[in-house]
Amino acid sequence: MLERCSTNKTVKSVLESTDLSSRLLAWYGRHHRVLPWRAPPGGSQGRTDPYHVWLSEIMLQQTTVAVVKDYFHKFSRTWPDVHALAGADLDDVLRAWAGLGYYARARNLHKCAGIVSSEHSGQFPRSAPELQKLPGIGPYTAAAIAAIAFDEPCAAVDGNVERVLARYYAIETPLPDAKPEVKDKAEALVPPQRAGDFAQALMDLGATICAPRKANCLICPWSQGCQGRILGLAETLPRKAPKKAKPTRFGTCFWLERSDGAVLLRRRPERGLLGGMMEVPSTNWAETRPQNPATEAPVEARWRHLKERVNHTFTHFHLELEIWSAEAPPVGTTLPEGDFRWVAKHELATEALPSVMRKVCAAVLD
Ligand code: ADE
Repeated sequence: MLERCSTNKTVKSVLESTDLSSRLLAWYGRHHRVLPWRAPPGGSQGRTDPYHVWLSEIMLQQTTVAVVKDYFHKFSRTWPDVHALAGADLDDVLRAWAGLGYYARARNLHKCAGIVSSEHSGQFPRSAPELQKLPGIGPYTAAAIAAIAFDEPCAAVDGNVERVLARYYAIETPLPDAKPEVKDKAEALVPPQRAGDFAQALMDLGATICAPRKANCLICPWSQGCQGRILGLAETLPRKAPKKAKPTRFGTCFWLERSDGAVLLRRRPERGLLGGMMEVPSTNWAETRPQNPATEAPVEARWRHLKERVNHTFTHFHLELEIWSAEAPPVGTTLPEGDFRWVAKHELATEALPSVMRKVCAAVLD
């Protein structure tokens, strides 16, 4: 939460902030996006249900507004409140999440619903620090929920907001080093009333006018006074530190298929990359190619090296997977310790498989 109007703020800077937030709120009143989880601006028709705000913000961590709309409808129809979601079967939640990516987020969603339902009587906490104690809620999401659901004066700074403010103030320090400065600027602008509308207005400004490649300054409510526009820099901002080259890791997947068409899958450990998701059993993903991968296969079999390879890029590394395949007897294969399961090939599509494993399935099956 902000410390409002601290003494080191000058009267001039307070007046400027008030002017900027007023202009943005007036613009939002006319041009806000109508979104299924949103209350109309101004609050005269009531506020949004905090459950809906939370649900949408968790989904929006993952993907775009356009994609989230359908998922939001599906979830809010199936589980209309936090108690319903808390009581849902985790597998049903994971299935409904399929296509949104990162199943760890869906697990945290379910866990968070359980905590809010049983420990908070179904009421989401109002303050950002309290919200941040819940699973799956980081600083940005906590600020967004506190502002949008409860009008707490919090600054929710995502990539869109960083871009708008880096341009308005012509901040040339590259991201991520510029983050603290951008956050300070954002906090100084949050108005004492209508913090939720303000947060959403800034998001909409970034999404519809101050877009990454095209800044539509002619119709921007902040055009006057925008240092980025005045200096002719707007579309070059925010600057970004050059990306570090990603290392490559290597692994081998073991496609074990029974004559009845079932394929062996394994659930990955809860913690770590792709935690809790299903995979075609694989070796560790190491910095060098496995020398003798068959020794790491889940069962002894006549393993054949397929020519297909799968390449996938994660946030921090590229992965190159080789695929070995074998046939297992229809019944009676002794599986090693671990969370293994046979899955019919035609049911692979509904499994909680991450993209990289969908690529492995496609490489074998296509
Ligand atoms: N991006 C993240 N949260 C959002 C929201 N509440 N509305 C629109 N875009 C968003």
